[in-house]
Amino acid sequence: VIIFATSDKGGTGRSVTSANVFYRKALMGADVAYLDFDFGSPTSGEIFSVQSARRGVARGGLHSYFRGDVPQPQQLDLWRESDRASLQKRPTGAGRLVLFPGDMGGGEFAVTEEMVKLCVRLFLRMEEEFDVTLVDLSAGRSYATAMVLDATARPELANVTARWLVFHRWTRQHITAADGLVNGVRGILDTGVSRGHKRPELASVIRYVRTAVIDPADKELAGLRAEQVAWLTKCNGDLLRQAAQVGIGNTTVFGSVPLDALLQWKEQLITDTDVLTRQIANQSTVDAFEDLAYRIDIDSEWETL
Ligand SMILES: Nc1ncnc2c1ncn2[C@@H]1O[C@H](COP(=O)(O)OP(=O)(O)O)[C@@H](O)[C@H]1O
Ligand SMILES: [Mg+2]
Repeated sequence: VIIFATSDKGGTGRSVTSANVFYRKALMGADVAYLDFDFGSPTSGEIFSVQSARRGVARGGLHSYFRGDVPQPQQLDLWRESDRASLQKRPTGAGRLVLFPGDMGGGEFAVTEEMVKLCVRLFLRMEEEFDVTLVDLSAGRSYATAMVLDATARPELANVTARWLVFHRWTRQHITAADGLVNGVRGILDTGVSRGHKRPELASVIRYVRTAVIDPADKELAGLRAEQVAWLTKCNGDLLRQAAQVGIGNTTVFGSVPLDALLQWKEQLITDTDVLTRQIANQSTVDAFEDLAYRIDIDSEWETL
């Protein structure tokens, strides 16, 4: 199973949420890979706390692979390479957690037919080696998105399950943007069709994830004034209606992650120690990550109503 993570805007929480969800999936025993296809800004090493790959690796990353400089992209086994003590040992029962970073200084690149073929080859390898692969795409309409839409339409990948998660913040602007990225002119559906996908089939594998959501009824918000809670509740109702109108309402939402103060200030994996011992992150955030991790490769969770 390959999951493509995208968003229209930057800063939606796409990378941090995906990283945490896949970390949780590995803890559940699955072998998982995280491919940094955010070619213009390859900073996934920062989230996984790999100092040497904070801005991509010095050589042999995904950029080099697509340029044809190396036969295989560099991979980092996070149970060994992470600088955080709590991540350095693979917990009993956990699966592999492997990061494929981009290159330091690497940027966006125009895609050639050769690159699409390399992409097909890479995805076939991922399918063989890992239970679930996450491909973190750039924000908005990008070369990377067009490339993976092209690759997944090829007959070689016909038997690989490919699904899409579109991340957005829970605001008016972000809802409009997410809808535009999928359904708008030259959006994912338009581009997919131009590369050989069938529109209804592609549409049926796209779901949305709401990030940094404030739940006005949450006990964590006990410090808010009554006026603020009332206002937030009304806003929440307006957003729910807006989302439903543009087709990103309850039938297509795959999950929702609450706002967490820790993530506001630091992009990182939230460990059980952070929640239980240090108590700097909320259990409800980890619950949301675990829920997404558990359901992400279950076919029935992706069925359309
Ligand atoms: N649930 C959350 N609560 C609070 N802040 C969050 C949450 N999820 C992500 N963030 C923060 O939002 C910022 C953008 O997240 P990031 O994953 O880098 O976005 P993207 O990959 O979409 O550009 C980061 O500082 C991140 O830590
Ligand atoms: Mg990102």
